[in-house]
Amino acid sequence: MDLLKQRIQADGLILNNSLLKVDSFLNQQIDPELMMKIAEEFVSRFQGEKITKILTIEASGIAASVMTGLILRVPVIFARKRKPKVTGDDVYTANVYSYTKGESNNIIISRQFLQADDRVLIIDDFLANGEAAAGLANIVEQAKAKVVGIGIVIEKSFQPGAQKLAAAGYRVESLARIKSFANGQVNFL
Ligand code: G4P
Repeated sequence: MDLLKQRIQADGLILNNSLLKVDSFLNQQIDPELMMKIAEEFVSRFQGEKITKILTIEASGIAASVMTGLILRVPVIFARKRKPKVTGDDVYTANVYSYTKGESNNIIISRQFLQADDRVLIIDDFLANGEAAAGLANIVEQAKAKVVGIGIVIEKSFQPGAQKLAAAGYRVESLARIKSFANGQVNFL
């Protein structure tokens, strides 16, 4: 998606050889117009998939997911990384290890929000090692629902997530695919 790639080139900051800071439009300040364009692209790529729900994980996947849900007129669910006090015990959980953060989280979704006849599009902001997306897919499958695909805003293709998810049989659509951060530049595939 050219508009997204241009924005990454213009506003992204390379923090080291593997981390990209995009706080000005995705991870802290959010550009709603860009998020809507991202959502339109997801809708176009997954056209015909009869999506009934969008699933993401807090926090940074939520903006693009809500815009996508708005276009498709379907509910958007976000997994929690910590169990809220008001959430009961009727939950699906999956253990997600973050290599970036070096910690594990039990991600949580109330069972009431996923049914066996759901066709779920998983959306997230970054794809690095694929642990978050795999955990979300695992929860969809615990509910006996179908993962129709995984939509990613920024894929770091030099990390193994995309290949792992594809090898597991999931359709992954990433709107910007980064090959490397060599020479202080963001190089796309
Ligand atoms: P994985 O899910 O693909 O295995 O990725 P990983 O655990 O390594 O990522 C952990 C967190 O770091 C995720 O956010 C992910 O979006 C974020 N992340 C990974 N690589 C980058 C990067 O290059 N730049 C930025 N800005 N973030 C990256 P999170 O902890 O869930 O944060 P948030 O969604 O609450 O913002």
